[in-house]
Amino acid sequence: MGTKGTEILNIDPKQMITLLNKAFADEWLAYFQYWIGAKVIKGPMKESIITELIQHSADELRHADLVANRIIQLGGIPILKPEDWYKHTNCGYDAPEDEYVTAILNQNIKGEQCAIGVYQKLMETSKDKDMITYNLALQILEDEVEHEEDLQSLAEDIELMLKHN
Ligand SMILES: [Fe+2]
Ligand SMILES: [Fe+2]
Repeated sequence: MGTKGTEILNIDPKQMITLLNKAFADEWLAYFQYWIGAKVIKGPMKESIITELIQHSADELRHADLVANRIIQLGGIPILKPEDWYKHTNCGYDAPEDEYVTAILNQNIKGEQCAIGVYQKLMETSKDKDMITYNLALQILEDEVEHEEDLQSLAEDIELMLKHN
């Protein structure tokens, strides 16, 4: 990072890089969880859920890109090996072994709730210390909050549909 850009940090960049790399691992695993979920899913309203899952997977990949760029800007290296994602992830990975619509929705809702906590923590850590990371975490947090809402409203629609059948 440039000298003035480093000067305005009130925190050890290594501390931010560690947290950002953990979020980076989460984003890749979330990206794949959505992507593979959209392939194997079965059950009612499948088509509209697939559209949402694909949209979310694209968002998670975009988040991984944003987070990687900030890691590099801070002088760090984004995790280079997929096997290391598991070592650093906060939220883990849930394989969609049960391919039924509600099972996949629930797994991803759980993932989004974890992601919301991750970015909230990142914002708390960077507040008044690293404005750029703070702003980045806020941007991503807005998406994750929207993701949770999208999935919960789909789960609600399925529940209503099954009740009125
Ligand atoms: Fe994300
Ligand atoms: Fe998300």
